[in-house]
Amino acid sequence: MAAHEEGGDERFSFEAFTRHPFFTEVNRWIVERVICPGRRKIVDLGCGPGAVTKLILERLDDARNAKVIGIDPSASALSKARAAIHSKVVEFIEGSAEWASRLVSSADAVVFLNAIHLVPDKPQVLAEIRKVLKQDGVFAFNTTFFNGAYVDGTAGFWRRWVVRAVQVLRERGLEVQHKAHAVARQFLSAEEYGELCVQAGFTRPAVDLVRIEMTPEALEDIGRFSLFIEGALPGVPLEEGSSALNEGLRRTIDETGMDHVPRNWLECVATAA
Ligand SMILES: C[S@@+](CC[C@H](N)C(=O)[O-])C[C@H]1O[C@@H](n2cnc3c(N)ncnc32)[C@H](O)[C@@H]1O
Repeated sequence: MAAHEEGGDERFSFEAFTRHPFFTEVNRWIVERVICPGRRKIVDLGCGPGAVTKLILERLDDARNAKVIGIDPSASALSKARAAIHSKVVEFIEGSAEWASRLVSSADAVVFLNAIHLVPDKPQVLAEIRKVLKQDGVFAFNTTFFNGAYVDGTAGFWRRWVVRAVQVLRERGLEVQHKAHAVARQFLSAEEYGELCVQAGFTRPAVDLVRIEMTPEALEDIGRFSLFIEGALPGVPLEEGSSALNEGLRRTIDETGMDHVPRNWLECVATAA
């Protein structure tokens, strides 16, 4: 398993987070803009346990003519997706964005939601996505791990959460590797993403920000997700990291008096030139 894939342990799955209404909202926002009856071959790249695949199916008017291909490198996430979605038009394939064009071609749309920040070589992956698409096909992606995600006045909350979690680990005799490189923490700006799209053969993407409120329960759930733990506390075992983030969150909420924390999602749609 690569460092950026979702791991196999149920406790650290992304699934709990996907059940929060705002998560559906940020994904539906973009799915509604790119999925329409004329677009029949759709790739859900980095589909994970299938939350976005479900939204795509909901949105397709007449699913009989459509084909939806979910691709993810995580076998455990795919088995959850297969268990949750029973549709003749959906196929799930184990694979990675880095070689997506070997798995599918001539697509009308590629959606890559909540995953692009995890990709270490973004120019290579964007060129690969371009190869998957027909000319004039659409590429949609979103992320909340970008330079601009923190709403004014909240950066201190997110920083304090990690500082408090590191403090909890120290109290428990564990050190955090500050040098470890965290792929889940590569924050690009909207402009940088736009430039990468143009370099890979897309039009400059239409860019929007969707602002949501993270509830205390959503913060707890994201703090239990393997890729978030690896990003916030590089090198720390998931069990210890998850527990420290939970206690660190409790202290941060106590100290700041904030429990609902607003956050921006970056939503981008580009066309294959
Ligand atoms: C946070 S989850 C998002 C899942 C789904 N797209 C959603 O929005 O609900 C990120 C997913 O990206 C997948 N992923 C990580 N690196 C990837 C890569 N290089 N290519 C494709 N998927 C990748 C992970 O395995 C994980 O399932």
